[in-house]
Amino acid sequence: MPRMRIDELPTPCAVVDHERLERNAARMGERMTRLGVRLRPHVKTHKCAEIARLSVRGHFGGVTVSTLAEARGLAEAGFDDLTWAVPIALDRIDDALLLGRRVRSFALLVDHPDAARALSAKARGGEQRVPVFLKVDCGYHRAGVDPEDPASVAFARELASLPGLEFRGLLTHAGHAYHATRRDELAAFARAERDVPVRFAERLCAAGVRVDEVSVGSTPTMSVAEDLAGVTEARPGNYLFFDAFQASIGSCDLEDAAFWVVATVIGHARAQNALLVNAGALSLSKDPGATHVDARCGFGRVASANRSRAFPSLRVTALSQEHGQIGSETPIDFDALPIGAKLAIVPNHSCLSAALFDRYHVVRDGRVAEVWRALRGW
Ligand SMILES: Cc1ncc(COP(=O)(O)O)c(C=O)c1O
Repeated sequence: MPRMRIDELPTPCAVVDHERLERNAARMGERMTRLGVRLRPHVKTHKCAEIARLSVRGHFGGVTVSTLAEARGLAEAGFDDLTWAVPIALDRIDDALLLGRRVRSFALLVDHPDAARALSAKARGGEQRVPVFLKVDCGYHRAGVDPEDPASVAFARELASLPGLEFRGLLTHAGHAYHATRRDELAAFARAERDVPVRFAERLCAAGVRVDEVSVGSTPTMSVAEDLAGVTEARPGNYLFFDAFQASIGSCDLEDAAFWVVATVIGHARAQNALLVNAGALSLSKDPGATHVDARCGFGRVASANRSRAFPSLRVTALSQEHGQIGSETPIDFDALPIGAKLAIVPNHSCLSAALFDRYHVVRDGRVAEVWRALRGW
């Protein structure tokens, strides 16, 4: 059967361009190898076993997950070294320990003594100690202990001695790097993401707490970092797909975006100088994008379905559940974009948009070559 062209797919649908995906994976992989750290890619962006496999090719095979559903699916697919990089919820400890018994390593994350003690209480007496990381705040202020607080040293010491647990080390994530407005601002975030946990690890070592691992990583920081001395592994994830946000802050070029949504023009609102498409908030997500770089960025960048032609003047200006409105500051050529025309939209945040689809249409040489399923749920 002849393989479909992108503009023959029923819409809305999610497309992944294999060539861009491989290029993004190779570029980050080479960077991390050159900087002397192990790459443990985060699968949260795609939640897909095939993409996870592609991303660890040539690396040690470890991955990072954001949900137990991802961990279970990847364990099923043969991955046996996983880190769940969200502080463990007490009501998921039993499930996590169960999965941990089926793989070589399933590392968990804590940033509060109550969670650490609850984990220890359930893990003690088990055949294997449960690998655990201490989450450290390197400036994002979302999660993690304050490395300057003496109580954090006491907590790390307690964590390292709790029965049933194997203290691996420190884990941090510079999510605040997304506040950057240009590529040359990213280096400072990358430095903080390295320096904060490395210095904390040194203080812990001086206090007699052994720290084997220092795990860092976000896509913006790992796209520019030049010195990762003291770091053992990196966990970028979004770099495989990239998106309009990453392009706005300089982590990539828009052209690198490997994931997009294909939508169909379903209406002409000539009075409003707007097109209506069938990709709404449940295809693109309502992530507002890098408004600190461009207040009028809209909800995605528009191009022809196969991305051969960009339409930089078109912006996704409004979204309701299944409707998307595309506007322009210049008059839209409605005849060139008739009812039924197909458009590509590179979303602001590929992780959120991808999570709204159950499958990816994988395109090679302009044709849909494969369909890959995603691991949804929690
Ligand atoms: C703890 C943690 N590590 C790594 C990542 C990957 O970062 P990015 O999405 O910038 O690649 C994330 C993303 O949210 C994260 O929360």
